[in-house]
Amino acid sequence: MNAIWRAERPALTPMTRDALAAVLAVENDIYEFPWTRGNFLDSLDAGYSCWLYGCGADLLGYAVVMLAVDEAHLLNLSVARAAQGRGHGRALLAELCTVVRDHGARTMLLEVRPSNLAGRALYARAGFLQVGLRRGYYPARDGREDALVLRRAL
Ligand SMILES: CC(C)(COP(=O)(O)OP(=O)(O)OC[C@H]1O[C@@H](n2cnc3c(N)ncnc32)[C@H](O)[C@@H]1OP(=O)(O)O)[C@@H](O)C(=O)NCCC(=O)NCCS
Repeated sequence: MNAIWRAERPALTPMTRDALAAVLAVENDIYEFPWTRGNFLDSLDAGYSCWLYGCGADLLGYAVVMLAVDEAHLLNLSVARAAQGRGHGRALLAELCTVVRDHGARTMLLEVRPSNLAGRALYARAGFLQVGLRRGYYPARDGREDALVLRRAL
């Protein structure tokens, strides 16, 4: 990263197929059960709202949202390991909420693992409240893990 990129404010740009190698490098590094290239391609092909978050060529994170009428379903929100803990997750989520609200979404829904303390803290601080529980939703080392279903008005 050079001084010019460092001086820029991170921004959202549309995710493209060209970016998938960089996205997958982060995805495979930070998740025990990562999305596959096929999962990202399906999201792009389905027209989901897919975003990169970064400064120039420096990828800090990314997000995928499915927009269904007035509800935005957050499917993936990730920050690169080296960039975590510096406020980028909070900023990425805030920018994402603004973008989907501008596209007509009135609420945002998401799932998070009960064991994901960083994710849960991020969403709680952003005003998400638990509205449900999906039993055995995620793969886990010792079988399956439930998902907390969280929602927030935008
Ligand atoms: C969850 C994730 C997106 C947070 O992004 P981040 O850039 O590290 O988070 P931020 O620095 O913006 O911190 C935002 C809030 O999250 C919480 N948080 C972040 N890291 C945390 C950690 N390791 N432990 C506990 N809480 C944490 C804090 O409450 C923080 O708020 P604060 O301002 O009070 O400190 C990031 O850790 C990540 O990508 N993790 C792996 C992928 C993942 O779990 N995605 C979410 C799936 S639902």
